[in-house]
Amino acid sequence: MKDDPSQLLKDLGRHQLVDGYPLLVDLDRSHGSWIHDRIHDCEFLDAFTCFASWPIGYNHPGFHEPEMLETFKRASLSKVSNSDLYCEDLCRFVDTFSMHATPDGFPHHFWVSGGGLAVENAMKTAFDWKARKLGRTNFDDAVEDLVILHFREAFHGRTGYTMSVTNTLPDKVGLYPKFNWPRVHNPTAHYDLEGNVCNDVAAEELRACQEIEAAFAEAESKGRHIAGILIEPMQGEGGDNHFRPEFMQALRTYADEREALLLYDEVQTGFFGSGKPWFWQHQGVTPDVVAFGKKTQVCGIYASRRVEEVDDHVFARSSRINSTWGGNLVDMVRCQRILEIIVEENLADHITTIGTHVIDGLRSIARETEAFTNVRGRGSLIAFTFNPAEARREMIAALFERRVIALPSGQDSVRFRLPLNLTREDADELLNRVESCVPLLTRA
Ligand SMILES: Cc1ncc(COP(=O)(O)O)c(C=O)c1O
Repeated sequence: MKDDPSQLLKDLGRHQLVDGYPLLVDLDRSHGSWIHDRIHDCEFLDAFTCFASWPIGYNHPGFHEPEMLETFKRASLSKVSNSDLYCEDLCRFVDTFSMHATPDGFPHHFWVSGGGLAVENAMKTAFDWKARKLGRTNFDDAVEDLVILHFREAFHGRTGYTMSVTNTLPDKVGLYPKFNWPRVHNPTAHYDLEGNVCNDVAAEELRACQEIEAAFAEAESKGRHIAGILIEPMQGEGGDNHFRPEFMQALRTYADEREALLLYDEVQTGFFGSGKPWFWQHQGVTPDVVAFGKKTQVCGIYASRRVEEVDDHVFARSSRINSTWGGNLVDMVRCQRILEIIVEENLADHITTIGTHVIDGLRSIARETEAFTNVRGRGSLIAFTFNPAEARREMIAALFERRVIALPSGQDSVRFRLPLNLTREDADELLNRVESCVPLLTRA
């Protein structure tokens, strides 16, 4: 195999689909918020962070300390089945995670590889809980009547159960068999350029609540049972759709009164991306189970004591939720180091400040140019909207030309997923590059 970067990519294409970015990343030379591309021998500003999964940039010095390198080496030389064979690195990771990431009141954890599987296991937790609530404790009891209530424009993954609750683009879930579970309106807030909610979000919430009540009534009339209400506290892939605390509280009440578990999918929003450990902490409405992934490296769920309302729940009874590896040890030690760095460098406060700076800058560009609207976000999770939607495609292409990698969100928005340690200088560079793209838009 030659090491000419373009040839490497061409050779790769002979064996697998290569439809991603036309770059070959130099992992040694990439640094901080800058991705070094070997093909063009240049650097791209990272406003996508590997789809919100790479939290503190490339080659953070904290990864290169001798003790850390030893830990990485040890963890990568043996691949143990963490759910059944425990080692010190696992114990240290779980201790750090539960101390700095898991909020109080969530004593149960489960680890797995992949965000879709994390969400899937949150759903399994709800199914098992609801089945037992209904008195079905024999493993051959029928449970096909259990369903998950979820939202339009939700993205929860592309695995078995999660495809039934994902509703972004049809290419992700079309032509695969799915369950017909209740899907309801998502009452998204829109923001003016001062940051105030500017749509009639209370009317949107009323519509959503009416649809939820209709879904519970329909389930009852058909002898079905809603085991869980599943929501991203902010929908990522589906359009950076923000919800008010009032609405999340309404979901909490439905879950309590109708005996369903409230499941949050924080795969994209969680682990300090919003400036708090979890996005739901901004809304102040506590869920029963939270699925996490991406920035956490190893994925999984944490759950409250509500799961203990039934005997033999999935965190007590062996093998009800499990996988051979129970997550990946290298991911765990990497997660632990990332978490230590987030705490040591106070990146939660840092990204809150930087995020506000970027949002303010985008609002000021929007006011001056009228190129986009609805600038919104928290911390590293930022989006803005184009009309017509085609202008969004042009903006992402123009940003790429100016060596910024940004993502689409929903039908008409651009999404930034920033490194938590993005510097003020790099944030200003990002804003300058956005501004310089505006004259290139032919459709806005
Ligand atoms: C909210 C949310 N849930 C679940 C997933 C699925 O995660 P994965 O692609 O790691 O399976 C994603 C991925 O983008 C996501 O954004």
